[in-house]
Amino acid sequence: MKTLSTALSSIVVLTALLLAFWTTTQPRIAMAQGNSITVQVDKPGAAISPSMFGVFFEDINFGADGGIYPERIKNRSFEFTNALMGWKKLERSGAKGNVTIQEQEPLNTTTPHYLRLQVEAAGEGFGITNEGFRGIGVQQGASYSFSVFARRTEGTPTLRIELVSANGQRLGQAKLSGFTNQWKKQAVTLRASATDAKAQLNVLVEGKGTLDLDMVSLFPQDTWKKRPNGLRADLVKLLSDMKPGFVRFPGGCIVEGRNLEERYQWKNTIGDVADRKLLINRWNMEFRSRNPARAPEDYFQSFGLGFFEYFQLCDDIGAEPLPIINCGMACQFNTKELAPLDQLDPYIQDALDLIEFANGSIVTPWGKKRAALGHPAPFNLKMIGVGNEQWGPQYIERYEQFAKVLKAKYPNIQLITSAGPDPGDERFKFLWEKLREQKADIVDEHFYKPPKWFYDNVHRYDNYPRTGPKVFAGEYASHVPVQGRPDRPNNWEAGLSEAALITGLERNADVVVMASYAPLFAHVDAWQWSPNLIWFDNLRSVGTPSYYVQKLFSTNRGTTVLPVQLEGNPTDLFASASYDKTASEVIVKVVNTATTAKPLNLNLTGAGKMGTRGKVFELASTDLKTENTLNEPTKIAPVEKSLSVSSNRISYSLAPQSLTVLRVPCSGR
Ligand code: AHR
Repeated sequence: MKTLSTALSSIVVLTALLLAFWTTTQPRIAMAQGNSITVQVDKPGAAISPSMFGVFFEDINFGADGGIYPERIKNRSFEFTNALMGWKKLERSGAKGNVTIQEQEPLNTTTPHYLRLQVEAAGEGFGITNEGFRGIGVQQGASYSFSVFARRTEGTPTLRIELVSANGQRLGQAKLSGFTNQWKKQAVTLRASATDAKAQLNVLVEGKGTLDLDMVSLFPQDTWKKRPNGLRADLVKLLSDMKPGFVRFPGGCIVEGRNLEERYQWKNTIGDVADRKLLINRWNMEFRSRNPARAPEDYFQSFGLGFFEYFQLCDDIGAEPLPIINCGMACQFNTKELAPLDQLDPYIQDALDLIEFANGSIVTPWGKKRAALGHPAPFNLKMIGVGNEQWGPQYIERYEQFAKVLKAKYPNIQLITSAGPDPGDERFKFLWEKLREQKADIVDEHFYKPPKWFYDNVHRYDNYPRTGPKVFAGEYASHVPVQGRPDRPNNWEAGLSEAALITGLERNADVVVMASYAPLFAHVDAWQWSPNLIWFDNLRSVGTPSYYVQKLFSTNRGTTVLPVQLEGNPTDLFASASYDKTASEVIVKVVNTATTAKPLNLNLTGAGKMGTRGKVFELASTDLKTENTLNEPTKIAPVEKSLSVSSNRISYSLAPQSLTVLRVPCSGR
């Protein structure tokens, strides 16, 4: 009897213990069995703007000159502060002569300097060598257009052009002759016999005499759309592949300049490239300590990539143009110079003229200029940024004047305004309060923060007011602090945290109407700022993990937000969902930050007729330190898989540390 009662009480205790264990471990067991995400297909929310995900372009890190604008000759018009920077005198055996910079009777007055080569003895070659932008990149078998404006002032000299490798091998050559005593453009094609990222170009005078040279240029013929003097094809392709909804240009602090004299003035960037007045790049002297290897201060803006080319790029890749205009304020991290309030007219006029240049009919003064440049059809500009990353009452005072004039003349043009450089400080709060009062259209928020901030801010916009100005997440990047890495690496830790935050942007597409990572481009030998979305050298380019995150969101945007619920509020899962009316697909993006795979139970409630075959794009790495490099460009890149669908309940195993995009065919409601 005693044994029976002992046994019974043992069973009771054991049952109680098991129950207690089951209760406390229940959530964990449930997690291990599957994470449930419910998407309400029959409750479509806000429309997602086609221009939701775009790119931020700035000529920083050799982004334009030395980058997407593939002129190979540095200081082609001898207008750098040191007029011979990038050039070296070349005197082969027996040669003798003078290399000077001249100004009298120039090719044009906006770029008044030119080079004079005076040969006393031609010997085996007298002339100059150009080092390019950290070298000249040439591909074996590719053709390059050499061109020069030249004038003969003595004798009958001719020119020999040589492309030479870094170790002195000749890779190609051509000759030019027939110079007169008037400036004349001459051109010839060179073919490279080998590949070299660090070649040089020699320009040698043959015969005795004196030649004046200006606008010495070497351009690849294989440019984007094969346009003569067009953009670097591999870099534009990376942009085009993202299908960006907009391109913001030309920056960035470059809009502001270190002082007002050095601000970006779009009117100086259109028309004949030989007439475009060169300007020092405001990033020339910046952040040397971050990249001590950066060497010489040789960063200038040739404006070969100017406003017409920016608009053309947008046209080419189907992106809305978003030009940013100086609002009478120089960079507040530099001189903080202000145009007085009663002298803002020229700045406002620049904005008015820009809108006319982009959209005006060809009988308007600026529309006529656009047509003369080869684009009679309007560029259909819909928005313009007033100032870049400005702050303080000075900004609000200036914005008010811009808004009054621009809105009176162009009520349909949306104005982008600044929320300053930090997404939550006193400057930010002040600006938001004032811009709300002003009924601003769209406010540009910037966040360069560590990964933790990105996770902490996934729900940042859930409680933003649903009325009033919209948000442009205009510059963001996750900055991973790594000891001994001043470049703050573009690793998967950064990309994954950005992906988590972007689910929050997408879920709130009624408030956040545009988003872009910044900066866009960086040359591996000449950067000032890091991380960046795309890195390149003189021949190759690589998309970072952040690039693939942007690309996945942009190319899987969807047209309408769908409500999404994550059961049990997990701290390591983040999700957003949308419906794509064109493809008739539900698109679900899930970020799994756990180091383990996670079984996912996806429930599409209220779904219409389901298709049977879906698609998955997976971006994942078990090592958060993984980076893509020029040598290994796709260590992290999306992997496409098929997804079989049998009902509105879908099971899928989420890879550890992953961004997964599921596209499920399903008619909407
Ligand atoms: O993206 C680099 C810089 O960051 C931009 O020029 C500026 O707007 C911000 O401070």
